[in-house]
Amino acid sequence: MKTIETVAEMVQLAKAWRKDGKRVGLVPTMGYLHQGHLSLVAAARLDSDIVVMSIFVNPTQFGPNEDYAAYPRDLEHDQALAEGAGVDYLFAPQPGDMYPKGYSTFVNVEGVTDYLCGAKRPGHFRGVATVVSKLFHIVQPEKAYFGQKDGQQVAVLRRMVADLNMPVEIIARPIVREADGVALSSRNVYLSAEQRQQAVVLSQGLAKARDLFIQGERDGEALKQVVTDTIQSASLAKIDYVQLVDNLTMAPVDRIAGEAMLAVAVYFGETRLIDNVLLAIESE
Ligand code: PAF
Repeated sequence: MKTIETVAEMVQLAKAWRKDGKRVGLVPTMGYLHQGHLSLVAAARLDSDIVVMSIFVNPTQFGPNEDYAAYPRDLEHDQALAEGAGVDYLFAPQPGDMYPKGYSTFVNVEGVTDYLCGAKRPGHFRGVATVVSKLFHIVQPEKAYFGQKDGQQVAVLRRMVADLNMPVEIIARPIVREADGVALSSRNVYLSAEQRQQAVVLSQGLAKARDLFIQGERDGEALKQVVTDTIQSASLAKIDYVQLVDNLTMAPVDRIAGEAMLAVAVYFGETRLIDNVLLAIESE
């Protein structure tokens, strides 16, 4: 595995791969890798001649009071994990190279960003869409791989590539969980032992709702209530939102008719965790 530290070098490599007709798979990350990220590499490995992973803690997707400076970073450890998982090239640029002096172009995806984390974290998806768009231009992948844990991010990026005619397929891969059900996240390291123990209520609530859905429940309020009740049973949990949304537009729905996403965001102290489950009616 080779680590590429400059945009210019990455652009040159991507140009050569394109000329040679190579299928390039991109796994964009902010590093501090876990099994969730590595499952994306495994999927990319199956589809691609060349697997590129980017590691870039993107300043433009953090709000002024968010954890940009504190976000966990460990490039050396990440390099070992990425290499072991089968990454060919690790792209790890500096912020000043991605956003040089005078930088002033941003990608704003409307509508789908009005809800959930988009409503709670103003500017977040503008930063995500901007950096992912830049990564697509720099690396020129055929496919790009994202975790379903960030379900709204997947919806936003699908909208972006469709609207801007970007020749990149967005592949969403299932959430990877700890043995007790907690979704893997780089931010889990912020949790105290007690918070970590209680964090299981997110996945427990969602699993109960999924069971109700399988038994035939379609009413949004009923499904959200079971999630809310379960999360509120944890003394350290503070709900940011529990929402049932259309999986394409992210707009809230009262009843499930097609494919919906039941999504939660919960604070444990300063740490904000998200999780979701897809509830789809195939044909009724
Ligand atoms: O999901 C993430 O880690 C980030 O939002 C992404 C897609 C790498 C963009 O910075």
